[in-house]
Order: sequence, then structure tokens, then C-alpha cells
Amino acid sequence: MPEIKVIETVKEMQSWSRAEKTAGRGVGCVPTMGYLHEGHLSLIRECGRHAQSVVMTLFVNPAQFAPHEDLARYPRDFEGDCKKASAAGAHAVFYPSVAEMYPQGYQTYVTVEEVSKDMEGEFRPAHFRGVATVVLKLFNAVRPEFAVFGEKDYQQFKVIERMVKDLDLGIEIAGLPTIREPDGLAMSSRNVYLSPEQRKQALSISRSLFEAREAAQKGEREVASLIKAAVKHLVEAGLSIDYLEVRDAETLEKIERIERPARMLIAARVGPVRLIDNLELVF
Ligand code: PAJ
Repeated sequence: MPEIKVIETVKEMQSWSRAEKTAGRGVGCVPTMGYLHEGHLSLIRECGRHAQSVVMTLFVNPAQFAPHEDLARYPRDFEGDCKKASAAGAHAVFYPSVAEMYPQGYQTYVTVEEVSKDMEGEFRPAHFRGVATVVLKLFNAVRPEFAVFGEKDYQQFKVIERMVKDLDLGIEIAGLPTIREPDGLAMSSRNVYLSPEQRKQALSISRSLFEAREAAQKGEREVASLIKAAVKHLVEAGLSIDYLEVRDAETLEKIERIERPARMLIAARVGPVRLIDNLELVF
């Protein structure tokens, strides 16, 4: 297996990237918080199809966690992640410390306004500010021409797209479909928090998304009735819903009828574990 280059400082990352470009290799970037699963690896593989030099970033970003959230116990496996990333085709991993990214005196943050406001933005108020800030900083370190994100975090993908456009970053952004377990559960680093019983309950999330997609395919256009059926399913499974929305797939604006591509987006809690998932509703 090829050795992966581990880079811990912004300065070294920038000069590594500069050297790759001088050698004629385009640089692609896959930002992650590690504890890699097949979803992350699919992004790395796709990145390798577009860029000759693939950098995975691995940074558990404190700025996107609220004080009561799972920052301290977020799962980590640096050695395992390096092996997996390398096998999937990454050439370097950017692995900065918190002090490298947010040195003493740090005070600059990026806010993407409208698209950050509701859904995740409502339940995790400073979350997207932390995400946009760190992704911009990671981009400034890696200086990629291309970057890949997962549709699993669909609103995040839209926030990044908006930021890249608004700030003229000139980076091509690709969004990749969610990779799921064989039974449908969306892969997530946070799935390790689930007990076997909670794991079964959590299945109701993907099941209600697939049911909604089927209903839309069969001709159901009314958002209210799609939502009603999905809420019923989740409540019966014992989940507690943060939000369950059907939105315009492009703008994430509220809609009442499905007349253009739409997405159903869900955040729900199974005991203490908060999970998100979403699916395109085809019409
Ligand atoms: P993390 O949750 O580690 O996810 C890293 C990337 O993997 C994101 O683009 C996410 O959407 C994608 N991903 C996660 N699960 C996936 C799945 N089942 N299928 C396909 N892609 C999946 O998202 C973050 O980290 C952070 O917010 C980050 C962007 C790195 C900023 O800190």
C-alpha cells in the first residue's frame, strides 16, 4: 500500500500543494472529521477521478460543535484513517492541531446567511458558521482546484457551494450521493453511538425517506401529506423529530407542492443520538 504523506502545518500544506501544481498535478480536496467509512472513501475515490493529487483533510473542528455536543467523545482513529484514505487513493492527509487552525487571538468567522438559517441552523445555531469558517481555512491551506462533499449533509453542501460562489474561490465543488448500509441506514461516524436496539429504531429514518420517494413517484404532489406519513413512521418507531421538511432541492426554499426536484430532509433523535438524512424526491 502506498505511504500517505501526513502534513500538520498550514505552511507545509501550502508548499506541498504549490509543488504538486508546479509538477503539473491538479489538487483535489476531501474535507473530513475522520473515523472514515465507505461514504468518506467514495468521496476520496471520486476526487481521484478529477484531480491527480488528492488531499484528505482530517480535523475535528471545535468551532462547529456547541458546548453540549459530542466534540470530546467524537470517535477518532488516526492510524486506521490513514490506511483507509491511502487505499482509496489519497496522496496526503492534512492533519492540523486545534492550535494550528485557531491560534490564540483567532477572531475571524464566515457566515453564509440565508441557506444556513433554518433546519440544522435552527437546531445547531453556530454550526454552519463553524463549518464555513473551517472549510475556507482548509481550502486556504490545501489550495485545491476541486473539492468533494457528500449529499448526506445536504444543507452543508449547499452552504459550501454558496460560500465558494459568493467569495469567488474558483474551486469546483462536487456533491456525491449518500452511501448506505445494506439495510438503508446512511453511513455516519456517529452510528457507533447506537445500541443494537437504537440501530433498529434508526432505520425508520431511511425507510420514511424511501417511502416518501415512492409516494412522490406514484404521483403524490402534496408536501403536507408526504410529511404527515413520514412523521407518523418516525414517531411510531419512538424517534423524536428535530425537523422533517420537504424543500426545493436547489435553493432549499419551502415548497407546498412538488413541481421541481425536491428533497426530504430529516433530523431526529434516537435516545441521545442525533441523526440526519435526506433524499431526493423524484417526480
Ligand atoms: P464528516 O462528517 O467527517 O464528513 C466528511 C464528508 O463526508 C462530508 O462531505 C460528508 O457529507 C461526507 N459523508 C458523510 N457521510 C457520508 C455518507 N454516508 N455518504 C457519502 N458522503 C458522506 O462533514 C464534515 O465531516 C465536516 O462538517 C467538515 C465538512 C469536514 C467540516 O469540518
